[in-house]
Amino acid sequence: MDIQIRHLVKQYGSYRALDDSSLSIGAGMFGLLGPNGAGKTTFMRILTTQLVPTSGEVVVGGVDVEREPSAIRQQLGYLPQEFGFYQSLSAFAMLDYIAAMKNIPCAQRAQEIERVLHEVNLTSEAKRKLGGYSSGMKQRLGIAQSMLGNHQLLVVDEPTVGLDPEERIRFRNVLARIAGQRTVVLSTHIVADIEASCSGVAVLRRSKLLFSGPPAKLVQAGCSVFSSMTQHGSTATLRVLGEPALGSVEVEPAIEEGYLLHLRTQTARRSASSD
Ligand SMILES: Nc1ncnc2c1ncn2[C@@H]1O[C@H](COP(=O)(O)OP(=O)(O)O)[C@@H](O)[C@H]1O
Ligand SMILES: [Mg+2]
Repeated sequence: MDIQIRHLVKQYGSYRALDDSSLSIGAGMFGLLGPNGAGKTTFMRILTTQLVPTSGEVVVGGVDVEREPSAIRQQLGYLPQEFGFYQSLSAFAMLDYIAAMKNIPCAQRAQEIERVLHEVNLTSEAKRKLGGYSSGMKQRLGIAQSMLGNHQLLVVDEPTVGLDPEERIRFRNVLARIAGQRTVVLSTHIVADIEASCSGVAVLRRSKLLFSGPPAKLVQAGCSVFSSMTQHGSTATLRVLGEPALGSVEVEPAIEEGYLLHLRTQTARRSASSD
């Protein structure tokens, strides 16, 4: 599923939460990376037809989101940043309820629920009450409900927040596996979420799109990293972004360092322009 975003602007009163952002997204996993308040949720709510942009356009699979929102909704699975489940329902009952709301015919529901539970590795927990689920299991169930209906586009907003490292890795693997020919758009402020599984990434900060392209390219934009060792009883290794320190050698930059450099460059430009 091909997504084209052109000159997207969203204004909340006098505050501009998205400022002239243009972007292309293809099949596979795409990561929207940015600190809190960058505009990620705003972007995803526009993409999922819950918010109308102030100007600009979003075209999903050739269909304009603003002109034909109901056509987009039928092709879309969505995991919001914040969601709640009824604690006293089992996973199966919860999914059955959502499947009914998605107009999945009664005769197909059980099979469809089994399919999505299997995808997120929750088959054995299907009868358990959600009150007893861990946060990792809840996030995987969130993904399962977004997959009901087998949509070509999945939009997941900060799905790894609140997960412990093991759950986060398991969850990323689930997303990467289901991406395949689908398009999965994932937002996060954690670089490792992107590094492991995304074929494309966009960096958003303070309403502006700073970068979009393959994750490896994030580090190529003039990023210099130097490593030096100091011995004070124990050994410490410093990785320095920018100018070399005495006795340091240039090393391969990590994607996280490329991301930090993009954020820093933007801050430097802003303070220079406000002088
Ligand atoms: N409904 C709203 N009304 C006014 N301001 C909002 C609204 N929603 C978000 N904002 C502001 O827009 C900015 C971007 O928010 P958001 O899209 O949630 O960012 P992110 O998901 O990257 O943390 C924030 O400064 C936030 O306070
Ligand atoms: Mg958000």
